[in-house]
Amino acid sequence: MRLEGKVALITGAGSGQGQEAAVLFAVEGARVVVTDVNEEGIKQTLERVKAAGGEAVGRRMDVADAEQVQEGVAYAVRTFGMLNVLYNNAGVYLRGKDGPVTRVDTEIWEMTVNINLKGMYLCCKYAIPEMIKAGGGSIVNTASAAGLIGTNYHAYSASKGGMIALSRSIATTYAPQNIRSNVICPGFIETPMTAEISSSQRLLQAYLDNTPLHRAGKPIDIAYMALYLASDEAAFVTGGVFVVDGGVTAR
Ligand SMILES: NC(=O)c1ccc[n+]([C@@H]2O[C@H](COP(=O)([O-])OP(=O)(O)OC[C@H]3O[C@@H](n4cnc5c(N)ncnc54)[C@H](O)[C@@H]3O)[C@@H](O)[C@H]2O)c1
Repeated sequence: MRLEGKVALITGAGSGQGQEAAVLFAVEGARVVVTDVNEEGIKQTLERVKAAGGEAVGRRMDVADAEQVQEGVAYAVRTFGMLNVLYNNAGVYLRGKDGPVTRVDTEIWEMTVNINLKGMYLCCKYAIPEMIKAGGGSIVNTASAAGLIGTNYHAYSASKGGMIALSRSIATTYAPQNIRSNVICPGFIETPMTAEISSSQRLLQAYLDNTPLHRAGKPIDIAYMALYLASDEAAFVTGGVFVVDGGVTAR
């Protein structure tokens, strides 16, 4: 099993990509700490992990709240004795409210950056010392193709671009302590976050027409990349940015 003996904390694991990764990580032998602000989602993920024969515990943790993150990391270590993998997956895209800088409200900007970028900072701040105690570990961060190219939703793009810069900085600073940090940049993935787009034939078609592989991504497409980066197979991989987008950014 590819994550045998590892303890992994996943944020935003009550839905979409985070839920899929929690199940895959557990099937591959990790003991998983499923965190989210959505308690119903946490329950669902734990049921899926259990049905797959894996081991996981759940905890409500808002990544933008320093106290909750500190407690969540402590809970992981208390429960499973150590922490080896942090998967910063939680994120928001405030569709219909986000937009170009001249139009986006300060409140929407702050909410987006607080969850997507400050959330990553807080999780790393409290998880890295525990990972160092465990002899090192892997941080997997979910940014977006929108962090690499220009878009019309500036708060989201800026927050994801910031995650890429922070991941590279963490990779170089903590390499001596055997901490690896990498970023996944998904393209369009069918999850609750994109349900509105998936359910509109016109919007969906526009995405597909722009995607060389001509299909929407699935949560498992991202979970497999996260699994590789979390595992020891990626022992020489750090500071990387891995696009999983069906070819969109290659155009
Ligand atoms: N779906 C896509 O097309 C797409 C594309 C590129 C990047 N992403 C990124 O992938 C990641 C996963 O998104 P998804 O597509 O699975 O969407 P999703 O909405 O299904 O999942 C996001 C999860 O994050 C949780 N969350 C939101 N705010 C939180 C907070 N403050 N603290 C903790 N958890 C919080 C939500 O409750 C939800 O369970 C996000 O970072 C998103 O920005 C998604």
